[in-house]
Amino acid sequence: MTAVPNRHADKIAIVTGAGQGIGAGVAKRLAHEGATVVIAEFNAANAEQVAGEVNGLAYPIDISDTAQIEQMVADVVARYGKIDILVNNAGINKTQSMMDVSPDDYDRVVDVNQRGLFFCLQAVAKQMIAQVPDDVKQAGRAERSYGKIVNFSSIAGRSGRPYAAQYSAAKWAVISITQSAALFLAPYNINVNAVCPGVVPTPMWDDIDRTQAQRFGLQQGDWIKSTIEKVPLKRAATPDDLAAAVSFLCSDDADYITGQTLNVDGGIEMN
Ligand SMILES: NC(=O)c1ccc[n+]([C@@H]2O[C@H](COP(=O)([O-])OP(=O)(O)OC[C@H]3O[C@@H](n4cnc5c(N)ncnc54)[C@H](O)[C@@H]3O)[C@@H](O)[C@H]2O)c1
Repeated sequence: MTAVPNRHADKIAIVTGAGQGIGAGVAKRLAHEGATVVIAEFNAANAEQVAGEVNGLAYPIDISDTAQIEQMVADVVARYGKIDILVNNAGINKTQSMMDVSPDDYDRVVDVNQRGLFFCLQAVAKQMIAQVPDDVKQAGRAERSYGKIVNFSSIAGRSGRPYAAQYSAAKWAVISITQSAALFLAPYNINVNAVCPGVVPTPMWDDIDRTQAQRFGLQQGDWIKSTIEKVPLKRAATPDDLAAAVSFLCSDDADYITGQTLNVDGGIEMN
């Protein structure tokens, strides 16, 4: 990890789904670079563990429940007085044939990846807008950033997936939400961007690999291995590859970047 010392000093950051995988990597990096991080995570034990490692706040939450999101924002503001960064990382996938997707399967994936992300963004953005001084609001432009939001899409948000159709649809929607929010929040100098991870071996990928191995009669590990072989840079991503991109997008160095979706995928997708 090549951390940038004090890059996020005095910043309050919420990272959803930070109990494991990429989100934990993002939380650790932001904390290492000076932020106070709220681990907004469904799995309470994992939230506690990561919070302990980063000296942050464990906040057990199901982001598909809008009442819990509102409560989280209120609690974080009551405790720290502000929110500077939101990383909308929480996500779920269900690997299954498009022909087997039930309405419940569809709704659950959309409820977390798309709807939950939307309402986390909305609730935090309202707080960020409230933090903008009135004279800046009247002028309609600002000399500095009043907040950074990074949404997690996926390479599955760039092209279709026959075994993750509802996930792909939700991740495409994340790119749309990112652009809409970037336009809405631009007058407040609140930046909204997205990242598309490629192949990151995390518990989510373990599940994809296991399911596809069963479907196609492969050994466990074969599916991810063949997927990694197709990556132009010839390796899987690490959580820190994603954390580095997210940290940059949350930093002052990215003040003039908004509405963009950055592939962090070793070259799999190029648009
Ligand atoms: N791993 C990859 O290769 C990959 C590729 C593309 C996109 N992504 C995206 O990156 C993000 C992180 O993926 P990951 O691989 O670390 O996944 P992961 O499954 O390892 O971790 C996801 C975390 O989100 C939490 N979470 C799930 N539902 C939640 C909810 N309703 N409320 C709060 N927390 C919830 C889980 O408990 C878990 O800790 C996701 O949005 C995922 O879709 C991952």
